[in-house]
Amino acid sequence: MGTIELKNVKKSFGTTDVIKDVSLIAEEGEFVVFVGPSGCGKSTLLRLISGLEETDDGTIHIDGEDVTKLDPYDRNLSMVFQSYALYPHMSVYENIAFALRTARVPKPEIDRKVREAAETLKLTSYLDRKPKDLSGGQRQRVAIGRAIVREPKGFLFDEPLSNLDAALRTQTRIEIAKLHKQLGSTMIYVTHDQIEAMTLADKIVVLKDGQVMQIGSPKELYARPNSTFVAQFIGSPKMNLLPNGSYDGQAMQFNKNVKITVGSVQGKPTVLGVRPEDITLCDPEASELRAKVAIYEFHGADNNVFVDVPGLGNLNIRADGKLDLKDGQSVGLKVDTSQIHYFDDSGARV
Ligand SMILES: Nc1ncnc2c1ncn2[C@@H]1O[C@H](COP(=O)(O)OP(=O)(O)OP(=O)(O)O)[C@@H](O)[C@H]1O
Ligand SMILES: [Mg+2]
Repeated sequence: MGTIELKNVKKSFGTTDVIKDVSLIAEEGEFVVFVGPSGCGKSTLLRLISGLEETDDGTIHIDGEDVTKLDPYDRNLSMVFQSYALYPHMSVYENIAFALRTARVPKPEIDRKVREAAETLKLTSYLDRKPKDLSGGQRQRVAIGRAIVREPKGFLFDEPLSNLDAALRTQTRIEIAKLHKQLGSTMIYVTHDQIEAMTLADKIVVLKDGQVMQIGSPKELYARPNSTFVAQFIGSPKMNLLPNGSYDGQAMQFNKNVKITVGSVQGKPTVLGVRPEDITLCDPEASELRAKVAIYEFHGADNNVFVDVPGLGNLNIRADGKLDLKDGQSVGLKVDTSQIHYFDDSGARV
């Protein structure tokens, strides 16, 4: 139970095409995360799935049933928003019980479900409190509790943690991961946060301008991004992209002075991509690539180093935190050629 499938879904607001032909599938029990820049259509897509917004074209199926024209309630999905939207005058218990009361579920059953959800979400000792007397994280858990008791076919989350501070965000993220394991329900989750996407998702859907750019597991997207867009969107700090190169069968040449020997490569790449952890600093004399330290940020376990390569620009490198670096220091760079990504002028992977 809980397979959600979109086929060629389209949506415009006025003359603006916000969702352009999106097809995707969330398998039963899968945790699917939508990521993409602000305004790319993540929330709209979620609202189309929930039924809060009507599609212009295409179909939405839940467990094989066409729900495209069904009302939100009849789709049996629960949505959790960034704003918790709790009833301020009701206790935690009443907030969680609300949908069940509306559906005229018998009282003893409501009581059992509310207490079970509260137990799962560690809210048992807060059942009598009003939302104003709870922390942000607790309020978000009440909102999730309200979603759980309906025993929906799937959960839709729209940036549920973005109102929380960093520590609470991490904690609640881990709780959501646990909840997913425990319930085994299909979940579709929208976020801006790299770490949330990478840690929670079975499958990430990268969106841009209302279109799917790539779908894959976090590892697949990290290891084999299909475009420069996905390459720079997944991973933090971002992948370095070296544009305007030419490949001569042995090396990529970026201008007269900058050459990176890469060996045999398929196709005709013009853009070379390399992640910050795949470049190491070495003695300038021992390398064909020389640079100067422009800025470095000490993060504890590692340094985030920006180096300036004359004729090429800045590269970002992840270096050991124990390395003592100085501004302006000359360094050599070694690129792990087995980890290089190649793209063409259009930004597609070659
Ligand atoms: N009801 C509406 N009427 C007109 N335009 C809308 C409406 N809802 C959304 N849009 C537009 O559709 C586009 C996508 O919006 P959406 O809220 O889905 O983006 P998002 O990816 O969720 O962005 P964010 O990350 O900022 O939340 C935006 O350009 C937005 O202005
Ligand atoms: Mg949004």
